[in-house]
Amino acid sequence: MSSLSPVTLKLSGKVIPNRIYRTALSEYSGSYDENDVTNTGKPLPRYIELHQELANGGAGLICFGNIPVHRDHLENFNNVVLDRDQPWDAVESFRPAILAAKSRGALCLPQLNFTGRQCPEFLNPNPVSSSDVKLHYCMDKSYGQPTPLSKAQIRDIIDRFVWAAETVVKAGADGIILHAAHGYLINQFLSPHINKRIDEYGGSIENRARFVVEIVESIKARLPTDRYIIGAKINCQDFVCGGATFAEQCVVIKLLEAAGVDFFDISGGTYEAPAWRGNLESLGETQPPAGEGTFLKWARDIKKILSRAVVGTTSGWRDSELMMAAVRRGDIDMCGLGRPLRDDPDLPNRVFTGERIQSKL
Ligand SMILES: Cc1cc2nc3c(=O)[nH]c(=O)nc-3n(C[C@H](O)[C@H](O)[C@H](O)COP(=O)(O)O)c2cc1C
Repeated sequence: MSSLSPVTLKLSGKVIPNRIYRTALSEYSGSYDENDVTNTGKPLPRYIELHQELANGGAGLICFGNIPVHRDHLENFNNVVLDRDQPWDAVESFRPAILAAKSRGALCLPQLNFTGRQCPEFLNPNPVSSSDVKLHYCMDKSYGQPTPLSKAQIRDIIDRFVWAAETVVKAGADGIILHAAHGYLINQFLSPHINKRIDEYGGSIENRARFVVEIVESIKARLPTDRYIIGAKINCQDFVCGGATFAEQCVVIKLLEAAGVDFFDISGGTYEAPAWRGNLESLGETQPPAGEGTFLKWARDIKKILSRAVVGTTSGWRDSELMMAAVRRGDIDMCGLGRPLRDDPDLPNRVFTGERIQSKL
């Protein structure tokens, strides 16, 4: 098996032409108008250029950086946004970037997100979350006191995910990838450290997983999984005391595969412990060899318990020989790259021609 071996997503039958994907990494290329929220989140020309560069560079799957599904709950002021209340035509606004991403044969999965308590206070001092557990100052920002979501609000957010998924598919995407990692709202439901609910969305791991499973089921009802991909970027564990453990995340990942998720991008950490930056040692864990994927050992065990879904993992890949060795061994199906492709979108093409890349990032 080589870096250029295609991989088939079993439910949709869609084929990823090679083993390198661009993980979701916010492009920060949306319009922002602090006086008029209706002008927020529209893709700017750089959004198209950037995805054309990624397409030209050869990655087999291009995940767009997180796209908030609510204009009042951004990750940063210049996010692109998919909010059904925006007056502009979302299909036409996103189509050029999606077509650019797909122009050289890659598949395209925009990442849908709801920030929850990780919405910076300067953007919204009144966030919502699974419960009322406030996030302390971290990632150079402060955060407001969150209000627990009512069941009607949970349903509204699920409907927003569905609307956003249908919108990007109308604009040409192959499906979507959910941001179920890094401490955002889906993760806030999964985490026992944050989710203190006593209704059917809290308590047991099956209850904490209910929100994300309902999102998947609701998207699937509109976008059948034999035609469209539902992916999930998800933590192997939170690396936070009292947060979601590896054992619990395995249960969630199995539930999601059964519900129709066909691709997992394995990551780890939250704003409280941003393990995706690759600093495992500082979190009391063993650091993997330089240049190897931060979460490889967990992704390998996750692949073993799954029956169908394609498994990739992102963070820390800096040596293309270690990347392809992990794929050849069958530890994982694919390698995800974030910052290395921001630095050099052409990296996959160079790997495919046999060059060994040892990025110093
Ligand atoms: C500037 C920046 C923006 C990011 N935006 C996102 C995002 O929108 N969605 C996401 O899942 N991860 C995001 N991440 C995390 C990356 O996708 C990735 O998991 C992390 O950078 C580790 O991978 P790398 O070592 O290949 O860069 C972001 C990281 C950075 C540095």
